[in-house]
Amino acid sequence: MSDIIPKRMPSSQETESSDRPSPTKSSSSSQVKGSSLPQTNGSDHPAVNGSADHHGRMDHSMNELTISKVDEEEIKDPACDPDNPVKVKFQDVSAAAYKIRNGVQRTSCQKSRLSDMLGLELYIKSDFQQITGRYDNPNIIAGQGTLGLEIIEQVPDLDAVVIPVGGGGLIAGMALAIKSLSPKTLIIGVESEQCASFSSAMKAGHPTYTKSAPTLADGLAVPVVGVNAFATARDIVDKVVTVSEDLIAVAILRLIEVEKAVVEGAGACSLAALLSDKLPELKGKKVAIPLCGGNIDTTVLGRVLERGLAADGRLCRFVVTVSDRPGGIADLTRLLADQGASIKDIFHERAWLKSEVFHVQVKVVVETRDSEHSVEIERRLREKYDRVLWGSSLKF
Ligand SMILES: Cc1ncc(COP(=O)(O)O)c(C=O)c1O
Repeated sequence: MSDIIPKRMPSSQETESSDRPSPTKSSSSSQVKGSSLPQTNGSDHPAVNGSADHHGRMDHSMNELTISKVDEEEIKDPACDPDNPVKVKFQDVSAAAYKIRNGVQRTSCQKSRLSDMLGLELYIKSDFQQITGRYDNPNIIAGQGTLGLEIIEQVPDLDAVVIPVGGGGLIAGMALAIKSLSPKTLIIGVESEQCASFSSAMKAGHPTYTKSAPTLADGLAVPVVGVNAFATARDIVDKVVTVSEDLIAVAILRLIEVEKAVVEGAGACSLAALLSDKLPELKGKKVAIPLCGGNIDTTVLGRVLERGLAADGRLCRFVVTVSDRPGGIADLTRLLADQGASIKDIFHERAWLKSEVFHVQVKVVVETRDSEHSVEIERRLREKYDRVLWGSSLKF
């Protein structure tokens, strides 16, 4: 199968370094490891409008899916036929719950310490690194639905569940279970803005190829949603929003700092959506999110945390022109020390400065406590120095 690319578009980091196993969701308790559900050939990716499936190589120049060097027969799952989409039913989810009851580990769904910060009552459903199959097989959709059953049982009177969307199987199963038991609970899907294929499908009325770019939520980078997932989810998903890379990074950071939970980009998208201004209707409401994946390697995590700190205004960079007389730079570092900012990088140069010869340009990256602290430091710098360039748009 070496000719078949993984269903997820690799992130830039993955293309550089990852040799980790293919991207099954390492998800919550209610999924189908050890399932006694009938198995298909394990390759459930549908051809879209008869042209290709998610395993097909994507030819961006043609702006459509094509399969190269892949035997179509090899990758077709009869259960994922674009001409006969299967709408999974609630009975399938209950049957799945019964069949997989001995194969899954139930996880907690606890009130999060992030609740106050978000101005709502947040419940987070933990991950058990459950190995799952591909997202569009009806059995998988039903199995993932059991996650919805668990959440509804664990958190009564839930106003909304915010669910990451890649191929759409997870949201399809969860929405089905949740809407069947609690019709008033809103189902909100979240995609990376780098790959908004579910939003495109909703607009088009059918799964459609969506141009995508690398994203921190690499688990969600599926350019065409599944036919069965879409058929099941389209009428029961209330809203779909997209989130930016910056917000995904901040969400990963918050989950580590506040919840002590290491969550990959895809799994952090629900929180990213809550941090955005796209769901104002959830303020003061009871909301659950699945932390549905922890596959993030440490190098990527390190970079993401730095990005998160920068996006959060806690890692700042600026350029300031100070006196080049003895003590000029010392004055600057003293100001920063007095303000409690920690210098991460500092660099000074004279050669390209056009102003007076006894000045030096200092480029600094500092760590601060929070965004208010950063604003105060900027204010102090501007008070003391005439030339201060501040912000992430700086090129240095
Ligand atoms: C961590 C994580 N969360 C959520 C999803 C979304 O699942 P689906 O592709 O069924 O929409 C995926 C997909 O693999 C995932 O890896």
